[in-house]
Amino acid sequence: MKCRKCGDRAVINMRQHKLALCGPHFLDWIPDQALRFIEKYRMFDADSRILVAVSGGKDSLGLWDVLGRLGFQADGLYIGLGIDGGTGYSAESQRKCEAFAEAHGLHLIVVDVAEVEGATIPTAASLTNRGRGKPCSVCGLTKRHVMNRVARDGGYDVLATGHNLDDEVAVLFGNTLNWASGYLARQGPVLEGRDGLIRKVKPFCRLYERETAAYALVRGIEYIYDECPHAVGATSIYYKETLNRMEADRPGMKLSFYLAFLRARQQGLFAEAADGPTDSLQACSTCGQPTTAPGQCAFCRTWDAVRARQRVSV
Ligand code: AMP
Ligand code: FES
Ligand code: ZN
Ligand code: ZN
Repeated sequence: MKCRKCGDRAVINMRQHKLALCGPHFLDWIPDQALRFIEKYRMFDADSRILVAVSGGKDSLGLWDVLGRLGFQADGLYIGLGIDGGTGYSAESQRKCEAFAEAHGLHLIVVDVAEVEGATIPTAASLTNRGRGKPCSVCGLTKRHVMNRVARDGGYDVLATGHNLDDEVAVLFGNTLNWASGYLARQGPVLEGRDGLIRKVKPFCRLYERETAAYALVRGIEYIYDECPHAVGATSIYYKETLNRMEADRPGMKLSFYLAFLRARQQGLFAEAADGPTDSLQACSTCGQPTTAPGQCAFCRTWDAVRARQRVSV
């Protein structure tokens, strides 16, 4: 297989785009694509202050790398979750983020949940009813809260995450199976900020996971290969495997599902389910972050309960 641009040996054949590229041309193609999406969906401008949420994985470190190569000013945020699962998952993820930041002279903000809130995510999950002992629900709630707080306190214009097309399509598939119209109305490359909620963007949302993995590999980015140990058996993984089988039979199927969804959404298919004035946000009585619940936000309620149970058990 030869590179379409120069005829050298191709390192990747992207059947869905009918495009094979050599290493150097692939390394240029990814930032070109990302810039196209950043501009098309009006994610941010040349002078925006960007905070990239980095997990130590290929997508978010790849994204941080691409933003730097495109000349954007982006700091990183790593949230230490205290997940070990015998593999030292969180510690290793943090090391990857720190090594990347140091090698590129970038600023990384680290928030260690156990230090700030008093317990690791798995301990917190075992002490609340939320998520039935599985840490993913407390983890997601905590990550969203910390990302928003750090982005707002730091005066950033936008928060960027490394979600790729496979992530987006798996979520879309799940939301479609459940006709979760409220979620469908909000899913997309950009989630506008409002009432103290930071604007969120996903510059890699149209890149296949295979492409982001190849980018990190060819570019020599050291990232954590392991998935979170708690992701084993997750429905999202089952959806991804199912979608991969469909994609193998029909290359380009994931991308066309996603793009057709974005078009339908733009035409107003889910407009009625979008947030109405009844969903107005108010400040949490404890932390001041925006919440739809009266009084305390879900984050403060959950963590107050965790700390109360910790006191009982000592
Ligand atoms: P996930 O929810 O693990 O699929 O991750 C989706 C995106 O959330 C990643 O691409 C990162 O941008 C961000 N993210 C996940 N975990 C962390 C973390 N521990 N710290 C900071 N950002 C994270
Ligand atoms: Fe949060 Fe796995 S439980 S990353
Ligand atoms: Zn080439
Ligand atoms: Zn709160």
